[in-house]
Amino acid sequence: MQRTSLLRSLFLYLCLFKDTVADAPPNVNEYESAVSHLRQIEAEYQRKRIYTADNIENNLIIPPYDPIKRQYNLKKYRSHNPPSTPPPPPQQLTETVLPLLEISASKNNPKALITLGDLYLFGNYSLPTDYHKAKNYYEKALEVWPDAHAYFMLGFIHSTGLFGEFPVDQKRANLYYQVAAENGDINALQVVAYRNLKGIGVPSNCELALPYLSRLSMMGFDRGRTPIADIDYNIRVSDFNGGLYGEKLSETVSSIDIPSRKYADIRTQIEEQKLNANDHEYATFYYNGLEHLRGDYFTERDFAQAFREFQKCVAIGEEYYGSRDYSNVDRLDRVFLSLCQVNLGRMYLEGLYVEKDASKAQQILQTSLKVKASSEALNQLGIIEEQGLVGEANRTKAMEYYTLASKQKRGAGSKNLAKSLMETVGTGSIESNENRDLIYKHMQQAAYYGSTEALYYVGNFLESGLAHLVEPEERVTCAKIALYYREFMKRLTSFYAPHLKYAFDELASGNFGNALVGYSIAAEQGYEQAQVSAAHLLYQVQPLYTRQETKTFTHDRLNLAIQYLDRASKQGNVDATILLGDIYKGQDGHAQIEPDYERAFNYYRIAADKHSSHGAFKLAEMYEYGLGSENHSVDYFLAKRYYDQSLQYKEKSDLERQTQQLKPTYSSAHINWALLRLRFKHLFNRNSANYRMDEHSSGWFSALKSLGKKTTGEQKSAQQMESLSKADAHHYGTSYDTEFVENYDVGDYLVITLTFIFFLVFFIQNIIRQVRRMRNGNQERREPEPEQQAQDRAEWNGNQFHFRRGNFEFHFFAI
Ligand SMILES: *[C@@H]1O[C@H](CO)[C@@H](O)[C@H](O)[C@H]1NC(C)=O
Ligand SMILES: *[C@@H]1O[C@H](CO)[C@@H](O)[C@H](O)[C@H]1NC(C)=O
Ligand SMILES: *[C@@H]1O[C@H](CO)[C@@H](O)[C@H](O)[C@H]1NC(C)=O
Repeated sequence: MQRTSLLRSLFLYLCLFKDTVADAPPNVNEYESAVSHLRQIEAEYQRKRIYTADNIENNLIIPPYDPIKRQYNLKKYRSHNPPSTPPPPPQQLTETVLPLLEISASKNNPKALITLGDLYLFGNYSLPTDYHKAKNYYEKALEVWPDAHAYFMLGFIHSTGLFGEFPVDQKRANLYYQVAAENGDINALQVVAYRNLKGIGVPSNCELALPYLSRLSMMGFDRGRTPIADIDYNIRVSDFNGGLYGEKLSETVSSIDIPSRKYADIRTQIEEQKLNANDHEYATFYYNGLEHLRGDYFTERDFAQAFREFQKCVAIGEEYYGSRDYSNVDRLDRVFLSLCQVNLGRMYLEGLYVEKDASKAQQILQTSLKVKASSEALNQLGIIEEQGLVGEANRTKAMEYYTLASKQKRGAGSKNLAKSLMETVGTGSIESNENRDLIYKHMQQAAYYGSTEALYYVGNFLESGLAHLVEPEERVTCAKIALYYREFMKRLTSFYAPHLKYAFDELASGNFGNALVGYSIAAEQGYEQAQVSAAHLLYQVQPLYTRQETKTFTHDRLNLAIQYLDRASKQGNVDATILLGDIYKGQDGHAQIEPDYERAFNYYRIAADKHSSHGAFKLAEMYEYGLGSENHSVDYFLAKRYYDQSLQYKEKSDLERQTQQLKPTYSSAHINWALLRLRFKHLFNRNSANYRMDEHSSGWFSALKSLGKKTTGEQKSAQQMESLSKADAHHYGTSYDTEFVENYDVGDYLVITLTFIFFLVFFIQNIIRQVRRMRNGNQERREPEPEQQAQDRAEWNGNQFHFRRGNFEFHFFAI
């Protein structure tokens, strides 16, 4: 017994001995072996996701942050699917990899130091994070070797303070970022470009940012050509709950795109239109295939399955219409059958799942032309001709295909046409190309119609001066070039911002702290969606009534959230703008911040200027209560004006949403409800405003008395003009007569009051019903009787009271 164990330990010793000493440079050895172990772990590691496509919507609840333990407090977190504590890291990591790395690090191997830094900062494979250790490792690494990644990470640590862990030091952060960028770190290049462009911590200077942007877009240029766009993880996590303000109030368009969801909706719509069972099965096959081809945040793409779906679709089409040479295909079938063919052809052409087979692709695509001359099919046929994938290359023929394709308002055709033209000259520069006008024109069109690659080219043409040669009257600004380059990068986040995928994976596994790290890296790089996500993980608007414990937010974290929201706001996110206003207004008593009405006012004003209904509403409120407006004066005229605007914008955006019904969005019920609520509040405020303005005559009652004195429409419109000009006078800082008292039309008063009462009744009924439903639904039969009775009584009383009042008004009106 003892002998065997002795032998074993001897054997082990020999193995170790051999492992550590036999191969040449000793400090590389441990590191190499650690890396190979890491690869093994990566291959075997299974994430435990708590969120799936089925449970994340309206259910992504960020748990409160515990500032003492310095982590999100999962225990206090109550939801429909409480996350279990994260699984322990694999033993191989803690018992083999970390010790190996530490040995190598003690020998000052910079790679080992950096890997350790990463592991402790990102918490890979659910290793508990240790930000202080991580920072030390990065700093040690820099003592040995000027590593760009370590510089970048230290820049990030100083810029964010890792959310309260370290003091924020933007000067140092800028320094580190700058050095990292000079050393070619792609993450740092983006940060430096963004900071210079938007003037964050440094003076805003587009000319300085441009070389970085130019270099960056060159780095990702090859990625622009991938046949199937990668999944874009650049999302606002708050959009899973309908946006920063939930479904009803948020105005920013959702960033979430889950094909399986979307296609399921379309499929059911098509199913409903089916006459008999075999109708439109092409659509079903097509969407099934596309779903697998694209994949989403929760499902891996599955080329094999996609291939099978498209193949079935094409085979059925062949069987059914092939003999008649696709002459009289049903209109809807025509669309989807050709889409199936195009996608199948592309899979053959690109060798996705199947062996590359260009002639098979060509055959399928040519068949598809008989069904429908789609631009995708033409485009791919062009590629086959241009590259000579089947037979000899024939550029003339390719250009013919591209020209046809470009006429269909799709980016790819125009882009290929332009590129093909660029190559016809061969060696000469594009500027001297006789077709330069055409090249520029087609490329611009391609960018306009959504080609990612074309964005890069147009940016390049603008920068190189080609654009100026073609269109001398068009002004080329630095900002414009930057716009093209940045848009190009935003389309390729899988390459430029890989931390976004990490952030999402961590979020879906319930590691909110790690998700925050990932999103704030991308936020530093200027991705608006990531900025909102980071801000949302740091600070959340709390529902007015919640059965969960109210959250408190520390000063450090709130400040960081404000910073990210401000950047998102400057990039056009109106919800972020309004949220900033709300934060400064001090709406949330649990956020540690001094109210600053002036700032709140300004944010609301920015939102209102962007035609945000919600923003105009908030601004009106500020005027109504005299918060943050000039000299803190209450101003009902402006309040009314902005309430009116709020209503207008709401109607307009509703209309816009209606016209965009093409892609299924949420039902419009919430919009109507918001509209109703808004109208109700609006009327209420207008009513009370009038009341307060006109104190000696008490509201509609006295107005009724004076009925007949003044009515005519002319008078009314004159008054409106007056009030408007007055509003303008105030808005632009000139003075106006404060003694002025606005007279409302009597009819107005009556309508307002009656409508108000009507809505009040409706509103209260609704609330009571809602409350009752909620209690019935959620409180599991805990002494239901007394409560139930009390509620019934309350409701009955409420109805009775208001109906009586309503009747009273009606009677009065009748008199
Ligand atoms: C840990 O995760 C980060 C973020 O995804 C990644 O950049 C890094 O390479 C990972 N480190 C290791 C050792 O796997
Ligand atoms: C290339 O295609 C054009 C037009 O389709 C045709 O006229 C020409 O003969 C072809 N050239 C070669 C070399 O096949
Ligand atoms: C606000 O107060 C300043 C100084 O007290 C005054 O000059 C200004 O006219 C006031 N503005 C308004 C709109 O009342």
